[in-house]
Amino acid sequence: MQTELIQVSNPAAAQATIARAGDILRRGGLVAFPTETVYGLGANGLDAAACARIYEAKGRPSDNPLILHVADRAMIDTIAADVPPCAEKLLAAFCPGPITLILRRKAIVPDRITGGLATVGIRMPENAIARAMIRAAGVPIAAPSANISGRPSPTTAASVLRDMQGRIPLILDGGPCRYGVESTIIDCTETPATILRPGAITREMLEELLGGVRLDPALVGAHTVPKAPGMKYRHYAPKAPLTLIEGAGAHMDAAFRRQVHILQQQGETVGILASHETCAALADLIPENLRKDYGPRGDLPAIAARIYEALISLDDTPATALLAEGTTERGLGLAIMNRLHKASGFHSLHCGKSADKRCLRSDSD
Ligand code: TXA
Ligand code: MG
Repeated sequence: MQTELIQVSNPAAAQATIARAGDILRRGGLVAFPTETVYGLGANGLDAAACARIYEAKGRPSDNPLILHVADRAMIDTIAADVPPCAEKLLAAFCPGPITLILRRKAIVPDRITGGLATVGIRMPENAIARAMIRAAGVPIAAPSANISGRPSPTTAASVLRDMQGRIPLILDGGPCRYGVESTIIDCTETPATILRPGAITREMLEELLGGVRLDPALVGAHTVPKAPGMKYRHYAPKAPLTLIEGAGAHMDAAFRRQVHILQQQGETVGILASHETCAALADLIPENLRKDYGPRGDLPAIAARIYEALISLDDTPATALLAEGTTERGLGLAIMNRLHKASGFHSLHCGKSADKRCLRSDSD
């Protein structure tokens, strides 16, 4: 199959392209499209056969449910059996935006996409191209991130093409995604509402609005099975093994230097994914092509926006071992650290401490 990539700077200027995308989707085909979080791989969410093509294109395990993307509130009522008060509050405060609500589903939602669950994830994206495309299709659009299963989520059309070339007919290129990490997932069928995946709508924002939320225990390192089925798989993984270095910025440079020396003595070619500051401090030890600068230390929006592309770009280097710099776990930092922990397979070191805090979680796929 030929994969066409079409630039769409805004929906008004690209009506024909949006109409074509809607047409492909209505006829059961797949279209990759931009959202404010990451690129999605869309299919008609009410058509089980179309959704099966998503699993095939991504190599996604069939027990991992898909979330449905809607253009407006009326579409939510066609797929959700009920919208509890906490979900109403979330809709009013954050939708459209980078959040997915887990709600009880109506029977119209195919079993194929829910992995047998009684619930469905619903997201109303803010991105104008995504919204126009969903309207053109006229149905809820099932869309996981547009990567091969287990690989980092794409935040540019070029990265979508890299994973999906030859597998899908059309990619809408809307430029780089604004947030860069996938939506916050919040389970509204539980009391208190529970965060299943951290994202740009932060735990603090949710606590302020709802007056109390729970974090899925699986997110805080407990040895429990995560409630979002997809969170149990090893994810976002670069090809070379990655170690996460956590801790305060002041000790970061020294910790990196120490680890780089150890790895280089073992004959490894070391690549790093780190702040501007750490990259600059290691210029004498690591050649430029092996230093991936994810943004200024502490600038969480910039880091979130760049993290996946930086991870992906390390796969194009000769690095055989990778080190990544951690951030705070406050605010957007919780989402960044969740992705870095998963990319490292929960292999992390604390700067200041020499012991290897390897967390043996049994969640590799
Ligand atoms: O930002 C996003 O959410 C992006 C863009 C494209 O919208 N989509 C995305 O989809 O990240 P995906 O499939 O890569 O991740 C959705 C996660 C998976 O971990 C899945 O297991 C979980 O949501 N999920 C889906 N339905 C669920 C349900 N009913 N209950 C619990 N978790 C669910
Ligand atoms: Mg994904």
